[in-house]
Amino acid sequence: MKITKIGLGLAALGRPDYINIRTANVNKSIAAFKENAFTMLDHAYSLGLRYFDTAPSYGKGEEFLLEWKNQRKYKDLVLGTKWGYTYVANWEVGYSGKHEIKEHSISKLLEQWQVSKQLLPQLGIYQVHSTTLESGILDNTTVLEELHTIKKETGVAIGISTSGAQQRSVIEKALNVKVNGEDLFTSFQVTYNVFEQATYPILKQVLKENKTVIVKEALANGRVFKNDTFTNYQDNYKTLEVLANNYNVSVDAIALRFIIDSLEPTYILSGASNTTQLDSNHKALDFVLSKKDLGKLKELKTNPSNYWEERSALEWN
Ligand SMILES: NC(=O)c1ccc[n+]([C@@H]2O[C@H](COP(=O)([O-])OP(=O)(O)OC[C@H]3O[C@@H](n4cnc5c(N)ncnc54)[C@H](OP(=O)(O)O)[C@@H]3O)[C@@H](O)[C@H]2O)c1
Repeated sequence: MKITKIGLGLAALGRPDYINIRTANVNKSIAAFKENAFTMLDHAYSLGLRYFDTAPSYGKGEEFLLEWKNQRKYKDLVLGTKWGYTYVANWEVGYSGKHEIKEHSISKLLEQWQVSKQLLPQLGIYQVHSTTLESGILDNTTVLEELHTIKKETGVAIGISTSGAQQRSVIEKALNVKVNGEDLFTSFQVTYNVFEQATYPILKQVLKENKTVIVKEALANGRVFKNDTFTNYQDNYKTLEVLANNYNVSVDAIALRFIIDSLEPTYILSGASNTTQLDSNHKALDFVLSKKDLGKLKELKTNPSNYWEERSALEWN
């Protein structure tokens, strides 16, 4: 039987600004972020989480994770990182430019691998960050062969992450990439949540092929929580709140449980930035949705192009 596990993502833990819907003030010094990241990693481990996801573009996300794993010396961690985006905001709070620059070239892969490989031997999954058809990565033989070499030399699984309205086509194309007659990509980190369900059929196929599915943005970057800004979700908020009351959990646990009961992915990433949020997210493992309630949540799906337009308009703060 497949049992979905919760993992912790470091996107909100390694840099001062990210897509945060929150309004609360937090201390944005490097020292405060490091302390919070260690608290979150320890707390997650104590709850039984073993998968931790980071990327070079998450500011100090890789550095914090590396230091934590070297200090704690746990043998049962599975770490995931990515390559292809560079963090350029240099911890400047309120940085007005683009915080991360995309580059799917062989030189970027070689440069970032030199840093990321320090996460070995706990590094289990190495992913192309935000794979798109336009970046040309899935046709770049030099890059694909280098990833195959990394896989052969270290045993890490090679994966992709995707975002955007084209997720399905990107996954389909990646599933067909072979190097030396073998499937190169065996892990798929994808956005799937109550509002964005377009990848359901392809992810079911991926799971059937015994490949790994990691769900990200499971809470639609915080948009599943009641928010007057999103007038289009007001009816959806009512459904989520009624179910949260009925199951005696918060809306986040309902949204996460929807993913477990509908898709049964390998991992769901929590994007929690504090222990209260993580505890609340973790309650998703304590109950099962009835068929009828699962049906109600399936109806909350929105049009993918509207979803992704809205996603790209979210501010970093
Ligand atoms: N490969 C990629 O391109 C990619 C893209 C995005 C994410 N990811 C991975 O996926 C992970 C999770 O994604 P994510 O963080 O973007 O999205 P998410 O999990 O959909 O949303 C996180 C948001 O939910 C809020 N939240 C969580 N639990 C809460 C609770 N109990 N009460 C109130 N608010 C709560 C957080 O609040 P605050 O605003 O207070 O922090 C944050 O705004 C990341 O850390 C990263 O590892 C990968």
